[in-house]
Amino acid sequence: MSDRRPIGVFDSGIGGLTVVRQLKKHLPYEDIVYFGDTARLPYGSKSRDTVLRFSIQNILFLLKKNVKLIVVACNTASSAALCDIKKNFKIPIIGVISPGAAQAASITRNQRVGVIGTRETIRSRAYEKHIKKISKEIKVFSFSCPLFVPLVQEGWAGKTITYDIASVYLEPLAKKNIDTLILGCTHYPLLKAPVASVLGRKVKLVDSAEAVARHTGRILSDAGLSNNKKIRGKLSCYVSDEPGNFKKVAEMFLGHKLKRIEKVDNV
Ligand code: DGL
Repeated sequence: MSDRRPIGVFDSGIGGLTVVRQLKKHLPYEDIVYFGDTARLPYGSKSRDTVLRFSIQNILFLLKKNVKLIVVACNTASSAALCDIKKNFKIPIIGVISPGAAQAASITRNQRVGVIGTRETIRSRAYEKHIKKISKEIKVFSFSCPLFVPLVQEGWAGKTITYDIASVYLEPLAKKNIDTLILGCTHYPLLKAPVASVLGRKVKLVDSAEAVARHTGRILSDAGLSNNKKIRGKLSCYVSDEPGNFKKVAEMFLGHKLKRIEKVDNV
């Protein structure tokens, strides 16, 4: 069986393209429709109810594109809204929290895991709750790093200031003797080097984007929804604000040029 409908992915903006990059790597034949809610980002500082409302609107938009499965690439939206969203829609909807939590729980040897994310993701304790469901023995240490998102969006991931800010945020975590850290935000996979410079190379960094791509592959194949046509999949990008700025940063996230990005009104 082969299902040629696209996978839908949404995020508050650009960051979800780290998930798209991994989806393209692990599921190269799948078409992807990406929606970045650039007019309304950031989600990380908004209330749970607002993020839930935006998420439902984003899903309704993707459903109009005839998607077969939806990946909520945004950690904040996954933490705040996934449970409620899943109750309201029939198609498979995958968030980033549970695959990332499962991967961290399987990696840790000393049962001490760190989580970093936006304020809302950390406030929700979503990663911690998922990890505790897997093992009560694991101790979880969570810290929000709100300046990381704007630094990445400025293209400053490699600048000295980012290394300095990483030290301020992560030095308390460096004292907790963790052996695994979940990069619990779409933008953080681009900050592996500054994070590792504070925590040391021994701490394993869990990129939830990669965990999600593997999980999506399993769900598609178990449900008979994979696209088995051996043709490289297409990526279509939609945003809710002017696409000009999006393109440059998006290419940095994806690691390749983007052809067309369409602005949509009234999501
Ligand atoms: N996409 C968000 C996340 O993964 C980060 C950007 C935002 O705050 O909207 O939590």
